[in-house]
Amino acid sequence: MKQRVTKAIFPVAGLGTRFLPATKSIPKEILCLVDKPLIQYAIDEAREAGIEEFIFVTSRGKGALEDYFDGAPQLEQSLKAKGKDDLLDVLMKSTMDSGEIAYVRQREALGLGHAVWCARRLIADEPFAVILTDDVIEAEQPVLKQMVEAHEQTGGNMVAAMEVAPSKASAYGLLDIKEDMGSLVSVKGMVEKPKPEDAPSNLAVIGRYILTPQILKNLETQERGAGGEIQLTDAIAKEITTSDNVYGFRFQGTRYDCGSKAGFLQATVAFGLARGDLCDEFRDFLIETLECRRAAQ
Ligand code: UTP
Repeated sequence: MKQRVTKAIFPVAGLGTRFLPATKSIPKEILCLVDKPLIQYAIDEAREAGIEEFIFVTSRGKGALEDYFDGAPQLEQSLKAKGKDDLLDVLMKSTMDSGEIAYVRQREALGLGHAVWCARRLIADEPFAVILTDDVIEAEQPVLKQMVEAHEQTGGNMVAAMEVAPSKASAYGLLDIKEDMGSLVSVKGMVEKPKPEDAPSNLAVIGRYILTPQILKNLETQERGAGGEIQLTDAIAKEITTSDNVYGFRFQGTRYDCGSKAGFLQATVAFGLARGDLCDEFRDFLIETLECRRAAQ
């Protein structure tokens, strides 16, 4: 019988330099889309996919992230006393039970593969998920849930995949497709941030993974890849030659790259417009602003 995926690793130890100066004192994952931090979108998605244990790989300066999930007794009491039950409900949804979250430290930002490897002692002989909080995906069914369901059929290693414009493909890990089965593709090669002439396709890896524990063993060698970093892509690519069990999954949904400023702004607009309590005022503002800009040109 296939094992259930109940653990997820959230690598949040990166430096977040693209959001300086904000990230000088605030972890990138605490930045908000409308009123919810990026990390909360990732936790909600994981929970809906059946994840029960949440493993954070953190680093120096990420204390605010750890505090975010704690109880806030004073605030809770005050909201209770004032009868603000709706806000109390919002607050309670952001609180994690004792023991649900584990934190491990990455001493040095040596790359995503290294960050995942830092959590190795918390993963037993079981498949596990990895979620990058930068990738926020608006979807009817949460993307990790879509993947968990597909993974029940395939087993092995699965990466979320999305077609990107060829001009942008070199910024991603790209899949070399063996067989295209529609939403699923089997993979015969993977390469992280290749030169445009070496790109095997424009099917890019996005920040959701379901991986076998063998990936953690592959990461033991600490080999450096693209950009001098220890790359998760390389550790997954090794499995293609040894086990032939790597799949790409074309998910249903719209992905926003909230690790970039443009992507973050796009997500803010999309999530703002999707909010019933804000959309009318926000849409009118956007239309007016665009009209004013056009008139001024
Ligand atoms: P990024 O490539 O976006 O790097 O990492 P970054 O440091 O977060 O941001 P920039 O590029 O400096 O602006 C992708 C994901 O991998 C994690 C990051 O926290 C992010 O979730 N990561 C990256 C680590 O946890 N450790 C690392 O050594 C590198």
